[in-house]
Amino acid sequence: MPQTVQGVVALAKSEPVQLVDIVIPDPGPGEAVVQVQACGVCHTDLHYREGGINDEFPFLLGHEAAGIVEAVGEGVTEVAPGDFVVLNWRAVCGECRACDRGELQYCFNTHNATQKMTLTDGTELSPALGIGAFAEKTLVAAGQCTKVDPEARAAAVGLLGCGVMAGIGAAINTGAVTRGKSVAVIGCGGVGAASIVGSALAGASPIIAVDIDERKLAKARELGATHVVNSSEVDPVEAIREIVGGNGAEGADVVIEAVGRPETWKQAFYARDLAGVLVLVGVPTPDMTLPDIPLIDVFGRGGALKSSWYGDCLPKRDFPMLVDLYQQGRLDLDAFVTEEIGIDDIEAAFEKMHHGDVLRSVVVL
Ligand code: APR
Ligand code: ZN
Ligand code: ZN
Repeated sequence: MPQTVQGVVALAKSEPVQLVDIVIPDPGPGEAVVQVQACGVCHTDLHYREGGINDEFPFLLGHEAAGIVEAVGEGVTEVAPGDFVVLNWRAVCGECRACDRGELQYCFNTHNATQKMTLTDGTELSPALGIGAFAEKTLVAAGQCTKVDPEARAAAVGLLGCGVMAGIGAAINTGAVTRGKSVAVIGCGGVGAASIVGSALAGASPIIAVDIDERKLAKARELGATHVVNSSEVDPVEAIREIVGGNGAEGADVVIEAVGRPETWKQAFYARDLAGVLVLVGVPTPDMTLPDIPLIDVFGRGGALKSSWYGDCLPKRDFPMLVDLYQQGRLDLDAFVTEEIGIDDIEAAFEKMHHGDVLRSVVVL
């Protein structure tokens, strides 16, 4: 029997979100219904509300979530009712050309639930990133559920479902940060802060945090940054070179851009050592173009200019491992939960996010 539960929906562009009744179908083949326990508020949710992703209103928002599997459809073997799971927005297909060559992190055909959740009048909902977890329950593809240690705090581990995984993965997966590497992170919001945590976990040193907001820099220091640079006061490229320059280095081995703007990408480009790696994990808007950089500098500086989709993560590999590190006290995911809020507090959370007051507000159900 389809169930009616409450969920947070963006009905029209730039209108405040509303808590309304939504209808969750029984899970069909390959699907699961998950009882949501916690879901972080991410910029992408606000982008959906602003029409910045696409025009397929109404959106069921929320996508950084953890919960308990309530029911599964036919043929589902990877999860079962009662499992504690973190939701991911990249259920890999196993069949596309990326999957075929064993690069599942690039899967070009990730999938979501086939059936649609709806409003009570039957209007189909577009779930944010194929998840839609600002709701008591949600319908997803079973592959979007990754089983993790059930003892873990849902509000903290749910964040692995998006921004925190993107940041940690940008460092350890895309940037291949290891001990002995110097790292600079430009932009220390939720994503950049997670890159700092990931770099610290991997043993990198120094770890240089760059931001224009002193509050973010203070937090970055708590999370493992060894140096902080306020780029509204000093030239970050010069500052980074000075910090790492003792052995003649012309910049950091790995520079992670976690803002998503041409000017900060350009800083990251020049803040690398020769043959260094630039990782773009911040998401630019469609109007932005590459900064004006002489092509000879691209050649002359060498190295790699990479993008990091979702931290190049493999949920089945990365989520349980990171949750175990969290449970062992080696990965401070609690530090990302600035506040726990109710499901009717999302507009207020958007406002705080907009002002940079929080790393993450997390809805707890
Ligand atoms: N130089 C350095 N830091 C900057 C600059 C700048 N010119 N402009 C903004 N910042 C900092 C902000 O002060 C903030 O700390 O970048 C950080 C951005 O953080 P958030 O707004 O919290 O965003 P976050 O969730 O971390 O996401 C970062 O990744 O997933 C994408 O869409 C997301 O593009 C965004 C980026
Ligand atoms: Zn695939
Ligand atoms: Zn997100």
